[in-house]
Order: sequence, then C-alpha cells, then structure tokens
Amino acid sequence: MLVIILLLLILIILVYNYYVHYTKNGQLINLIPGPLGYPIIGNTLQFLCSREEQWKTLITHANQYVIHKVWICFSPIIIITDPDDIRKILSNIIHIEKSTIYHIAEPWLGTSLGISKADKWHSRRKILNPSFHFNILQQFTEILIKESKNMIKCLKNAEGTVVKDLIPFVSEHTLNAICETAMGTSLQNLSTSQQQYRKAVHRMTELIIYRFLRPWLHFDWIFSLTSKGREHKKILKILHRFTEQIIAERRLYHERTNGQYLKEFDNLSAQRDDNETIGITEKRTIGWETTAAAVSFILAQLAEDKDIQDRVRNEVDSAIQGNEKKFNFKLLKQLPYLERCIKEALRLYPSVPFISRICGEDIKLQSYLVPAGTMIVINIYAAHRNPNFWPNPQVFDPDRFLPEKIQNRHYYSYIPFSAGPRNCIGQQFGMLEIKTMIASVIHNFYLEPIDYLKDVQLQTNITLSPAQLRIRFIPIHKINVSI
Ligand code: HEM
Repeated sequence: MLVIILLLLILIILVYNYYVHYTKNGQLINLIPGPLGYPIIGNTLQFLCSREEQWKTLITHANQYVIHKVWICFSPIIIITDPDDIRKILSNIIHIEKSTIYHIAEPWLGTSLGISKADKWHSRRKILNPSFHFNILQQFTEILIKESKNMIKCLKNAEGTVVKDLIPFVSEHTLNAICETAMGTSLQNLSTSQQQYRKAVHRMTELIIYRFLRPWLHFDWIFSLTSKGREHKKILKILHRFTEQIIAERRLYHERTNGQYLKEFDNLSAQRDDNETIGITEKRTIGWETTAAAVSFILAQLAEDKDIQDRVRNEVDSAIQGNEKKFNFKLLKQLPYLERCIKEALRLYPSVPFISRICGEDIKLQSYLVPAGTMIVINIYAAHRNPNFWPNPQVFDPDRFLPEKIQNRHYYSYIPFSAGPRNCIGQQFGMLEIKTMIASVIHNFYLEPIDYLKDVQLQTNITLSPAQLRIRFIPIHKINVSI
C-alpha cells in the first residue's frame, strides 16, 4: 500500500513537473538564462545554505546576468537589475501585487500596507498618506532630536572611547523614535521587552526567508509540525504581545496629551478592527530596521573616510553656529553635503536590498517575454552597483549626487526607497531621522573603523544585514556643546 502511495506521489510530481516546464509559460521562462538546476528541485539546493552563502550566490548571479531565472522547486523567480526593466515593473500599477514572501509574513504583519493585496492596498495607502505629510514631519523633529540625544548620552556614559556593534546599538534608538513618533509611545520604561522584541523581529525575518526557500513549508500544517514552525509560533506571540502593549500605551498617552500626535491616523485606525490596527502598527515599527541599517552603514563609511567625515563635521558645526547654536528642523534642512553622503551610502548599502512583485500581465524584460503571474525580484543592491550607470561603482563618492550630476541619471538606476506608486511611504521621515542621528553623532564624536566595509560579510535578510559592523566612538570635548 505504502509503495503504491509513493509511486502515485512520484507520478503526480512528474506530471506536475512536465506541466510547469513544458506548457507555454514554463517554456517562455526557460528561455531566460540562469544557473543550471536539477529536474524538479531546480536551483533550490543552491539556496539551502547559510545566509552568507545565499548572499554570495545572489551577488555572483547578478554579476553574471542582467536578467536571470532560478527555479525554487516548481516556482520560477526572475531576477532583474537593469533600470529599464525595473521601470517597467515599478511604474505600472498592474504589477503592484507583492510576492509569496510577503504572504508568508502575513501571520506577523497581518494585512498591513506593505504586504496587502492590490485590492486593499489602495485604500490603506490613502489612509496612511496624511500621517506622512511634510507638516507632520516637522512636528516629529523634536522627538527625533530627543532620541538622538539619548543615543549620544548612552555613548557619553561610557566616559571615553567606546566600541559599538552598530546595528543592535542604533536600532534600539530608531525603534524608540518610531514608536514615539508613529504611535506616541515612549519605550523608555519598556527596555527589556524592547530588546526581546528586536531579537524576535530579527529571528522572524530569518524564519520567513527559511520558509520561503522551502516551498513544502508553505503549507501551514506541514510547517506547524516542524521545530521551526513551533519556534515561529512562540516568536509570533512575543511580537503580538509587544504590539498590543504599544497600542495600550498609546491609548494612555493620547488620553494624557489630548491626542496631540497623529490625530488623523488614530481617528482613522480607530474605525478599524484590532487586527488591522495591529497590522498597521507592525508595518510602522518596521521602518526602524531600515533606518537603523542606513544609519549604521553611513557611520561605518564615515569612520573609514576621514576627509569626508571631517567635511560633514565642519558642515554640521558651522550650521549649528549659524543657527544660534540651535539644533532644529531649520538646521537639518541646511546640510546638503551630509544629505549627499546619506544618498551615496544608500546607493552602496540600500537598507532593502531586494524587493519583489508579481507581474500582472505578460511583460517583455530585456528580450524575453515573462508571463503574467511570475514572481519578479528586483536586486536593488546590484542595480546600484551597475558600472554602466555608476562609474567606479565600489567607490564612495557623495558628489555623485550633486544637482548637476543627477540631472541625466536614469531615474530607476537609484531606488533605495523603491519607486512608482508602491514606493516607501516613510521616505522623508527616514531621511530626516538619518540626518538627525548622523549630525548629532558627528558633532560629538570622531569615528574610527574596526570592521572595514569591504571585509564585512553580508547575509540575506529583508533588510541589509552584516554579521557584525563595529566602529569606535571617540568623544570630542567641546565648550558650549549644544546637542
Ligand atoms: C532608510 C530608511 C528606509 C528605507 C531605505 C526604506 C525602503 C523601503 C522600500 C525599498 C520599500 C518598498 C518595499 C517593497 O516594494 O517591497 C518600502 C516600503 C515601505 N516603507 Fe520604507 N524605508 C525606509 C524607512 C521607512 C520608515 C521610517 C517608514 C515608516 C515610518 C517606512 C514605511 C514603509 C511602508 C509602510 C512601506 C510599504 C509601502 C506600500 O506598500 O505602499 N519606511 N520602504
């Protein structure tokens, strides 16, 4: 009996394999170049390795092909890096749907904006847009400055030179900042659960990628039987508990402050059920990871480039002098060189290295026809290092972003915040936060490298993840320090 079931299973797999590869869509996809795979499992084995190895594989493929396909068992993925192809996908609302990886994140993120299906996405985006309006951003500056001061205080408490692994250190402060700005909740009294939450987010994103690369684990019932499935359940509880805690704190805070922060957002979300509020809240708390990655890589880059670091410090110091020693929104708007450094660091180290979409109709990419329903991955990291658009791409050169230099640049060759209708809603907020944090640090500390960026091993994750990225902070002793 068991043998018959086994034979039947093999027969079903073979027929399905034939159906996937030899009907019209499969044949079209197989015309696209790509690394050789095995029958049935395709390229899956190449990705069942450490996250460092996965990263190396993705980058090697991107260096070999402008467009390529990989098969994860029966699911084809088309990976693109060319700005013209990227434009075709991102600028057209027909390809707005996100891929399976986001659906795997659903138990965690609910049906929040970032992962919502096309039909719901539009109305949700409309609800959230007003809370990212420029005038609201201005209100947030105070909180961002306060959190930057906390960061400086932490470093100064060490009384002397201090070494930090940047991502965990910075993310504590970006999470505080986003919770207070987006949800009106300070995490000052929640440091233990905050730390537990950050660890849980990190582990959850690892599990999402682990599951994504093993299509048989996409079935909930199979996943729940595995040790990773059980771990996933435990972590989910930690994440939801933290979110509920934040929502409860937020309600208290608004009672205390008479709803001073994000009135529009709360009124709108109050009309919705708890699930959605949690979903929205989760997505908003996700902005802290991307911002933390950006701040960390910029600090590491400035630590390596002493001349650029000095130039940024001179700009910040003179802006403070010229602004009656006040650190405020007006001052932050006056730091063009720092802004160029941030943009250039986001080119070399985009916080979100890959994004994906499902194409909504047949589309021609390079000279290949990609059938509707296929998953497309945009390799932002590789696109930002394409030598056809970025001469000497590995060199950190903030002047690539001088106004005269960006005039003729291909719009889709630089997309750290994605582009088109489903781009990052928090872009301006993120830039403001990065600027605030870097300006505060650079005003108060000299930076020296410990881990050099060229040696840092990156890993696959939803946000750009180095195994470790440490720098040394050396206090600058100043009279009349204003921040
Ligand atoms: C350096 C900082 C940031 C970077 C580089 C960044 C990058 C991105 C990218 C590339 C996407 C597109 C994802 C995709 O298409 O799959 C995205 C989407 C999104 N980001 Fe950001 N982000 C940053 C900061 C933030 C912040 C601070 C917030 C919130 C306060 C935020 C909220 C969102 C949301 C809600 C979406 C989903 C938009 C939608 O689907 O309509 N981001 N971000």
